[in-house]
Amino acid sequence: MCHLSFVICMSFASDLKILYHLALKPVRGKDHAARMENFYSGQAEAYDDFRKRLLKGRQELWNLIPPPAGGTWIDMGGGTGGNLDYFGDSIHNLGKVYVLDLSHSLLEVAKKRIAAKGWTNVETVEADATTYQPPSGPVDVVTFSYSLTMIPDWFAALENALAMLKPGGTIGVVDFYVSRKFASDGLARHGWMTRTFWPAWFAMDNVFPSPDHVPFLHRHFDVVHFQERRAKVPYIPLSRVPYYLFVGRKRA
Ligand SMILES: C[S@@+](CC[C@H](N)C(=O)[O-])C[C@H]1O[C@@H](n2cnc3c(N)ncnc32)[C@H](O)[C@@H]1O
Repeated sequence: MCHLSFVICMSFASDLKILYHLALKPVRGKDHAARMENFYSGQAEAYDDFRKRLLKGRQELWNLIPPPAGGTWIDMGGGTGGNLDYFGDSIHNLGKVYVLDLSHSLLEVAKKRIAAKGWTNVETVEADATTYQPPSGPVDVVTFSYSLTMIPDWFAALENALAMLKPGGTIGVVDFYVSRKFASDGLARHGWMTRTFWPAWFAMDNVFPSPDHVPFLHRHFDVVHFQERRAKVPYIPLSRVPYYLFVGRKRA
């Protein structure tokens, strides 16, 4: 039987490891793929627990998109495949699910998860979200959960998603962002501190919250659902980082 204090100690040690990778360890690599693998290889096994507390809104995004019967869903930058758990039993309704990522170490965790759950319709793909097209043809749903902010050519990833979606297909995005200084009417306007602090803070980890993702999504997709929110950040007291949920449809 484990003692509560031992469990707390172990989870704090795991957090310290993650915090070291987030705050101190320099990220090296000759290209983007190498930098992603370098960043994630030492924290792959502890990834899910810490990110559950940092990356909010993922379950809500999955709840907003009903899995199409027999359809194909691709999770871009899907990492450890943690989002697959949000499907519940409805994962079996899908014909095919791809978890695409550049990080080999995170996909190894995803593979173990898929094998343990016995999901025969789920496949991992080690590839770049800006260029990959599934061999099975156009897809029904594309999701990006906290991956757009890590993709330098995020506009290429969204154009690629648009290209791979069937007409009427669904895109779902949940991610950090900051507003434009003069955000359009109806959208949140963040103050100078928010627009300056969060991009500078996240840039240390090659995460780039942008004022342009939300306008780009609104311009290229019909909006089904859009919500702007704030979330607490572990170990940063009083902090509230902005994030959004977007569900859109490819125009016919
Ligand atoms: C913050 S993690 C999010 C992982 C997962 N979607 C989640 O919600 O926990 C960002 C992920 O994007 C992946 N990534 C970054 N650039 C990528 C690219 N160009 N193509 C595919 N994956 C990429 C990283 O390797 C990483 O797994």
